[in-house]
Amino acid sequence: MDITEAVTGRRSVRAFTDEPVDLAGIERVLEQAQRAASGGNLQPWHVAVLTGDALQALRSKVGERLSSGERPPSPEYPVYPDTLWEPYRSRRFQNGEQLYATLGIAREDKAGRMTSFVRNWDFFGAPVGLLLFVDRGMNHPQWADLGIWLQTVMLLLRAEGLESCAQEAWSAQHDLVAQVVDVPDQLMLFCGLAIGHEDTSAPVNALRTTRAPLDEVVTWLDEPGPLTSRTT
Ligand SMILES: Cc1cc2nc3c(=O)[nH]c(=O)nc-3n(C[C@H](O)[C@H](O)[C@H](O)COP(=O)(O)O)c2cc1C
Repeated sequence: MDITEAVTGRRSVRAFTDEPVDLAGIERVLEQAQRAASGGNLQPWHVAVLTGDALQALRSKVGERLSSGERPPSPEYPVYPDTLWEPYRSRRFQNGEQLYATLGIAREDKAGRMTSFVRNWDFFGAPVGLLLFVDRGMNHPQWADLGIWLQTVMLLLRAEGLESCAQEAWSAQHDLVAQVVDVPDQLMLFCGLAIGHEDTSAPVNALRTTRAPLDEVVTWLDEPGPLTSRTT
C-alpha cells in the first residue's frame, strides 16, 4: 500500500465484522513496527495481543462490572488536562458531536451516548484486542515514542487489509486488564487498540473527522519570528 493512502485513508474504525484475523498478519505488522523510531532507540513499548479466551475473559469482566453498576477506578494517568482550553476544547467537543451525530444520538440522550461509549470496552466487537503498556518511570518523550509506534502499527495494519481504533478508554479498566494480563508493577496501561476487518455497513464507520487547517498548527519562518500557531 502506498504510504500516502495508508495515512490519508486511515480512520478510527469502531465496528468490525466476524471475519477472523490472521495472526500471522498481526505478527508481520508487529515485526515491521519494531522499526519505529524512538529516542535513544529505547523502544519503550510493551504489548499484549489478546484473542480467544483471554479476550473473552476481559470482555466478561468488564461486562460484569457494567451490569453491576460498579464504577471503574480512575485511569492511572490523567487522560486529558482537568480543564481543556482553546483550541483543544472545541476540537474535542466537535469530535464528540460528530461521532454521536453519525450514530444519530442526540446531545440530550445521555444514556444513548453512554451505551455507545461502553462499546469501547468490548473492543467495538473486534476479534483482536491489543493493549499497550509503558514503564511508570518513563518521561514524556518515551510516551511520544509509544504514539509513534502506535501510528506505525495502525498504518501497517491497513496494508494487511485490517483497520483499528486506538482506545484510551481502556485506561479506566486497568485493574480488570491486570486480572487477565499479569502486568508487572512497573508497567502502566496506556491504551488499547481494537483490530479487525471493518464493518463497512455500520453507521459509526461513516464518520470522517475534520482537521485544523495548516495555518493553525504550522508557522513558516524564513527569518526569525514568533510561532503563530493557534494557542487560544
Ligand atoms: C492514543 C489515542 C487514544 C484514543 N482513544 C479513543 C477511545 O478511547 N475511544 C475512541 O472511540 N476513540 C479513541 N481514539 C480515536 C480518536 O478519537 C480519533 O483518532 C480522532 O477522533 C481522529 O479521528 P480518526 O482516527 O478517525 O482520524 C483515540 C486515538 C488515539 C490516538
